[in-house]
Amino acid sequence: MDFNNKVVLITGASSGIGAAAALLYAQQSAKVVLVGRNEESLCKVAKQCEETKGIRPLVIKADLSVEEDVKNIVTKTVNTFNQIDVLVNNAGVGVHGSILDGVELYDRAMAVNVRAAYLLTSLAAPYLIKTKGNIVNVSSVAGLRPIKDVDFLPYCMSKAALDQFTKCLAVEMARHKVRVNSVNPGGTKSQFAEAAGYSKEEVAELYKHRCENYPLGKLAESEEVADLILYLSSNRARSITGSIYVIDNGEMLV
Ligand SMILES: NC(=O)c1ccc[n+]([C@@H]2O[C@H](COP(=O)([O-])OP(=O)(O)OC[C@H]3O[C@@H](n4cnc5c(N)ncnc54)[C@H](OP(=O)(O)O)[C@@H]3O)[C@@H](O)[C@H]2O)c1
Repeated sequence: MDFNNKVVLITGASSGIGAAAALLYAQQSAKVVLVGRNEESLCKVAKQCEETKGIRPLVIKADLSVEEDVKNIVTKTVNTFNQIDVLVNNAGVGVHGSILDGVELYDRAMAVNVRAAYLLTSLAAPYLIKTKGNIVNVSSVAGLRPIKDVDFLPYCMSKAALDQFTKCLAVEMARHKVRVNSVNPGGTKSQFAEAAGYSKEEVAELYKHRCENYPLGKLAESEEVADLILYLSSNRARSITGSIYVIDNGEMLV
């Protein structure tokens, strides 16, 4: 997969799937743009990326729920690299709660998982059209069916919206030869559950429970999900658009 001279913008690149994707793109000689709130973690990922092919990534500290920050991402990227070839809308928050917990949880999930992706994509779209680039959204199996072992209503709704965004946008952008696809992981090892507010012990219990229930008996590694993102954004996937790719160790089967 050749990403030489391609500019790849990845949100949520400070940990987990986004960090793994950044490293894979860097190994393929891409110019990567790393976005997240935790600057220290972003800089660590940037250092690892630079060590692969000697290309220095652009680090952008941004809170995707803040409109000015999102605008700044595109401005800085274009000022630095002049183009955008791939947009990976990967950043996401796991907001758990039920309908009894109030609408604030809905707003939080939608702000990052949907609105930020929509806004960033709208600002990046003119540049993606110029390069005939492509978009990969990182959704979840939670967008395709309810999560049954925990109350995850706001999160599930946000990922379902993101999937419809992928499909509608793929139709719209096809006329500009820009492809749009989605990767929908099941349980994957990352900081996700802790960022959603679970303690280390609860995460260990959740992972154990999931492993026992998944047909393949394990969670995915972030690198495996990153591999699929890379493939979909590469020229090898030039005939794929509007597709939702599940990577879940068989979770959807049970
Ligand atoms: N792990 C799983 O089991 C799983 C399953 C299905 C889908 N997913 C999806 O995979 C994607 C990546 O998650 P992950 O598993 O890699 O989890 P993670 O390790 O917690 O990474 C989430 C990333 O999103 C960023 N982020 C969150 N809120 C942000 C905000 N307001 N502004 C900017 N960046 C923000 C975080 O960066 P900062 O903290 O630096 O801001 C971090 O880099 C998410 O969309 C998630 O919904 C994960």
